[in-house]
Formats: sequence, C-alpha cells, structure tokens
Amino acid sequence: MTGTKPHLLFTYGQILCSLLQTTQPEQRSEGLNVDSIREIKYLQELSHPSIVGLLDVFSTKDETINMVIEYFPHGNLEQLIKDRGVAYGAADVKAWMGMLGRAVYFCHANFVLHRDIKPNNLLIAADGEVKLADFGLARSFADPYANMTPVVITLWYRPPELLFGARHYSGAVDVWSMGMVFAELLLRVPYAAAPSDQELAQLDTICDAVGTPAEDNWPGVSSLPNYVSMDKRSSRPQHDREAWHVLAALRRLHRTRKGVQLGLISTDSIPRD
Ligand SMILES: Nc1ncnc2c1ncn2[C@@H]1O[C@H](COP(=O)(O)OP(=O)(O)O)[C@@H](O)[C@H]1O
Ligand SMILES: [Mg+2]
Repeated sequence: MTGTKPHLLFTYGQILCSLLQTTQPEQRSEGLNVDSIREIKYLQELSHPSIVGLLDVFSTKDETINMVIEYFPHGNLEQLIKDRGVAYGAADVKAWMGMLGRAVYFCHANFVLHRDIKPNNLLIAADGEVKLADFGLARSFADPYANMTPVVITLWYRPPELLFGARHYSGAVDVWSMGMVFAELLLRVPYAAAPSDQELAQLDTICDAVGTPAEDNWPGVSSLPNYVSMDKRSSRPQHDREAWHVLAALRRLHRTRKGVQLGLISTDSIPRD
C-alpha cells in the first residue's frame, strides 16, 4: 500500500496482525489517500486464500486510515529470492506460481486488474503460503471502453503494450508480470531488468530476452499510441528446457488473452523435486 508507516503488531482474536497506517497528506483527496481508498475497496471485495485478508479498517481524528491485515512474518518473495542463504526448488516455485495464478484468476474473474504484480508484493505467511498484496494501483476493467493509464506496473514487470502506451488493456498485463515473477524465481535475478529507468530501455531489454514485436508476430502492435519499431535481432538466453516451455506458455497466454487457468495447467510440466 503506497505511503504506509512501519507496521505495528498486535493480536486480533487468534490472528497476529499488522496495522498499516497511511501518511502522505499531499496525496489525499477530500481527506483520504486515493491509493488507500482503492486498496480498501478491492481488499474488501476480494476474499480469497491467496490474497491478503483485510480484517478491519478504522480512521483516527487526524484522518489517518488504519488497515488491520494478517501479519506476514517471512516478508516477501523479493527478500526470499535475494537471500542466498535460502535454498528452494522447482516444487516450491510450482506451488508459489499456483497460488499467484489462483489469486490473479480470482481478481480477473471479478473484473479487477492488480497492475503491480512483482515479488515485493507477494507476501509469505507463517505457514509458507504466498499471498498477493498491495492493491494500491488496482482498478476495475468491467467497462471495456474506458480509457486506462498505461503508466502502471513497476517497470521491470510492465508488458510491452503498456510501454507502447496502450489505453485499453486486459488481464493480460497481469499475466505478463506473472511470467516475469516466474522467470525471476527460477533465475534468482530479475528477468528483464532494464539498465535505466526509461521505457525504451525496458522495451530493448524485453526484445533482447524474448524477441522483437512486429506485425507478423503481434498483429496490431504498430497501431499502439507510442509504437516505435524495435528493429533488433532477438537473442534468447538459454534456460532449463521445462521452465522455458512454461514461460513460453505464459507469453502465449498473454498474447491470446485466454485467462490464467491455462497457465496453471502448463505448470504441471515442471517435475517435482
Ligand atoms: N501485513 C503485513 N505483514 C508483514 N509485512 C508486510 C505486511 N504488509 C506489507 N508488508 C511489508 O511491507 C512491504 C510494503 O508493503 P506494500 O503493501 O506493498 O506497500 P507499498 O505500496 O509501500 O509497496 C511489503 O513488501 C512487505 O514486505
Ligand atoms: Mg508494494
């Protein structure tokens, strides 16, 4: 959640809870932080075992909003990926991707785009379950004609249609981010980390990693508002064959916009270790 103060811990019934408090009064509209309103709205609507549960919300006299959320003692997947002292295998990655896939499917089935899927927003519960958090950039996509901003999703996890300025998009944008998370879990470094904080540099990095979008492999791409020809040769890095197969399936899924469940079927091709 954007603009949170450090968490306070207490118990709420049997559950150890974290209290998130919003700050940043400059972002407030009519007394409330806009991102906080979004987050509360969507967390209240989306009750699912793989999405963080909102237990309570209350405000104080200074108009601080307090969200009571289950406490996640093991931090987030970004911290876990970076911690070289932690070993994990293909079965763990399969389980985490399954949880993420079910969370994202549930959001999309309820016409909600998360728009900030990345390891830092996947929290690890006491029992090892991974839950999707941080709905500060989420929005409904129930109206297919509504214009949406393309400036969402943290750059390394942002799909090419948003980098080309698309104002109409679907759950496919979250599926792309899922693919980036999956690759990062396997490689233990971000898969498409641009060398600079620029959208063109991010597009270059994506082209180097997975190939160049053009009309023959992506009909309509040249009509996107900020399209520029990425006239480059693709050089695919070598990965584990099975993992590459699943990543390619997620990319196909992202292109064909068929929904997340197909991706979950594909993950069955990863052997358990
Ligand atoms: N309920 C929680 N329990 C434990 N840690 C949390 C909890 N909520 C958030 N965090 C930690 O704080 C980080 C930032 O929280 P997040 O909701 O994503 O806000 P931001 O918008 O600042 O990214 C998370 O990546 C996680 O490490
Ligand atoms: Mg976050």
